[in-house]
Amino acid sequence: METNAGQSAARALLAFWRAAGVDMDMAEAVYAAAPSQPVETVARPKRASAPRPLRPRADTSLEAARSAAQAANSVAELRAALENFEGCALKRTARNTVFVDGVENAPVLLIGEAPGKDEDQAGKPFVGRSGQLLDRMLEQIGLNRRSNLLISNTIYWRPPGNRDPTQGEIAACLPFAERLVEIVQPKLLILAGKSAAHTMLKRVDGVLKLRGRKLQYSRDEFPLPVNAMVMLHPAYLLRQPQQKRLAWNDLLLAETWLDELGVERAPHS
Ligand code: URA
Repeated sequence: METNAGQSAARALLAFWRAAGVDMDMAEAVYAAAPSQPVETVARPKRASAPRPLRPRADTSLEAARSAAQAANSVAELRAALENFEGCALKRTARNTVFVDGVENAPVLLIGEAPGKDEDQAGKPFVGRSGQLLDRMLEQIGLNRRSNLLISNTIYWRPPGNRDPTQGEIAACLPFAERLVEIVQPKLLILAGKSAAHTMLKRVDGVLKLRGRKLQYSRDEFPLPVNAMVMLHPAYLLRQPQQKRLAWNDLLLAETWLDELGVERAPHS
């Protein structure tokens, strides 16, 4: 036993010192009076129980985003879910959450990329220069936010300095964009620009290849296909006005398709 072995070693040492002429009476008295203490053993560090699999933060945000979005059953509930969602770091630097503008059960849903400075200030998508151009373009084919159009983005908070959103930021916002399509079930989904097209269609073709075609948007979780088309982003048109001809062709495709789908439109202003 460790206790007895320790005591006899100490006694042997005292006997040795006594034999060597050291006055040990006092020391022995102290030793004899001391309660016998079990020798302290150095506690082995506890073996950690089976290590828990570490989940990257992004996954946690993704799951939170998915469950928050899936629980919403209306555009208003989805907005509330988004306003309570803390899984996208962009929210911390943005002034406002920018979600949708227009008619909630509109036959046409347009999704762009991310809010800029004006949208961040107003809390509404597409209100700056490119938004004004977008409104003028869509008016040409009888679409407007007052009667038959709902506008949103794939990102709901302004990236600082209008930088491109990261893959993590896109992934954290995507469940809300996907749920918006499920809730609205538009007759036509218009994706404005490369980023919205890539994010929603999960395709990496260039926007010039994707635009001008009748496409379908569908997901495993939401197999009902939705008619979809890609148009050039109005901000791109402001930078490259020579591409307006292509943009005009995009509008003509939307107009023809909406006629085929029987979507009511406002008279041209
Ligand atoms: N560009 C976008 O893609 N969305 C906006 O809301 C504004 C500019």
